[in-house]
Amino acid sequence: MLQQMNKPDHYQLLIRGGTVIDGTKAPRFLADIGITDGRIAAIGQLQAHTADETLDASGLIVAPGFIDVHTHDDLSLLSQGDMSCKVSQGVTTVVVGNCGISAAPLRNGQDLPMPLNLLDIPAGDRFTTFAAYLQALRETPAAVNVAAMVGHTALRATTMDDTQRAANAGEIAAMQQLLDEALQAGAIGMSTGTFYPPAAHASTGEIIEVGRPLSKHQALYATHMRDEADQVMASLDESFCIGRALGVPVVISHHKVMNRSNFGRSVQTLPFIREAMKHQCVALDCYPYTAGSTMIRTDRGVLDGRVLIASSVPHPECAGRDLDQIAAEWNMTKAEAAQRLQPGSAIYFVMDEDDVQRILAFDETMIGSDGIAAGTKPHPRLWGTFPRVLGHYSRELGLFPLETAVWKMTGLSARNFQLPGRGTLQVGAHADLTLFDADSVRDSATYDAPTLVSQGVHSVIVNGVVTWSGGFHSGARSGQLIARASA
Ligand code: ZN
Ligand code: CU
Repeated sequence: MLQQMNKPDHYQLLIRGGTVIDGTKAPRFLADIGITDGRIAAIGQLQAHTADETLDASGLIVAPGFIDVHTHDDLSLLSQGDMSCKVSQGVTTVVVGNCGISAAPLRNGQDLPMPLNLLDIPAGDRFTTFAAYLQALRETPAAVNVAAMVGHTALRATTMDDTQRAANAGEIAAMQQLLDEALQAGAIGMSTGTFYPPAAHASTGEIIEVGRPLSKHQALYATHMRDEADQVMASLDESFCIGRALGVPVVISHHKVMNRSNFGRSVQTLPFIREAMKHQCVALDCYPYTAGSTMIRTDRGVLDGRVLIASSVPHPECAGRDLDQIAAEWNMTKAEAAQRLQPGSAIYFVMDEDDVQRILAFDETMIGSDGIAAGTKPHPRLWGTFPRVLGHYSRELGLFPLETAVWKMTGLSARNFQLPGRGTLQVGAHADLTLFDADSVRDSATYDAPTLVSQGVHSVIVNGVVTWSGGFHSGARSGQLIARASA
C-alpha cells in the first residue's frame, strides 16, 4: 500500500501526516503524499523530503477528490467557474449531461422545452456542436474537472420540430450522427430522461437506434428512467434491455422509489439490479435526501406530498415557499397554482427515509448530487450532498464505514464512468485530493438555508493546485476536461 517512485527529493506540494483513505475501500493508513506537476509523485513516509508548499494534514483524512457523478453543472462550469458549491464539499470532478439534458448540441433561437430550460440556456450563442462545448470547457477551465455526456432530450429538441411524438427514420439518423460526432469529440456517453415530456414519446426501440454509436465507442448509457414510481420495475427492465441491446454499461441515475404507494419497494428494486449486474454492466447513483427536485410539474403523484417552490420565472417572489400556502392564498388547487408558477423548479418530498438509506447502503451505489444551480432557493443537495453522506449517514447513523463512504464517491465512480487516473490515491494518478476532519465533517445546507457551506472540509486540491483551504476558495481554476479514454 505504501508506494514510492524513485523518490524525488523535492515536491511542489507535500501533504504531511495525514490519514490516507485511498478510495479503494482499503483500511486507512498514515502517510505523506508528495505532488509534482499535477500528479501524485509519492505516497509514504516522506519526512526527509522538501517541498515548495507543505500542508499539515495531521488529524485529517486525506482522500481522493470526490466525483459528483450526477450534475447539471453543464453551463455553471462556464458561467460560475469557481464552482464553490462543489469545491466546498470536496468535489474535484463533475459529470454533466445527465437526465437527457445537455448544453449541446442545440440550435440558436429555438424555444427550448422544459426541462432543458433548467440549465439556463441562453437564446443565442448556444453550442451548436458538442465539440464546440468541449472546446469552451478546455479554453475556460473551471475549478473542477468535468466529463460530459450528451443528452438525448437535447438531441431530440435539436433534430425534431415537435418532440411530442416518436422520431422518424430521418430524425433518428440525424440524432445518431450528432451523437457519433459528440463521442468522437470526447463525450463519455449519452443520457436519457424519458420521465420528461420532450423525451416521453421516445420508445425503447428509438433510444436503442439513436444510441447505436455508443456501442462502437464503448461509451456509457445513463438514464433518468421513464418511471420511478408505480412502474419502477418495468423501467429498470427497459434500462437494462437498452444496455444489453447496445452492449454498453448502464447507469441508473438517482435511483429512488417515489410516491407513498411505492414506499418500501427498494427491497424489490435492489435485488433486481443486483441480478442484472450478473449479466451486464450496471451502475447506479443516489443523493442523500428524501426530497427530489426538478421542473415544476402538475401531475398527481408528485403534488401529493409537500412541495417547495425553488424557482419560478413568472413568480420569483414565490421561491422558498410551500405550494400549499401559495395555492391557498391564490384560492386554487395545488395543480392550478403549479401551472401558474411554470416554468420553474420545485422540491418534492416524495421518498421514504428507509428507501433512501437502503439504496445508499447498497454496495454498488455511487453518490451524485443532482444539484440544480437555479435561483436562490435550490435543493440543499447542491451544497450538502457529500458531507451529508460522510457526516450524517456514515458517522452518525453508521450506515457504512468511512472507507466505504469515500469509495462510493471516488474509486467506484471513476471505475464506472471510466475516468482514468482519477478516484484513487496512487502514484502517477492525477493529484485530486480532499482533506477533511472525520469527526466534524457535516452538511450545513437545509431547505430553509440551502446555500450554507459545509463544515469540516479542510483543503481541496485539483490537479495539484490548492483550490479550497480553511473555508475559502483560492481562486484557482485548474480543472481539466476529461475526454472519453479512446477519443
Ligand atoms: Zn434526473
Ligand atoms: Cu438530474
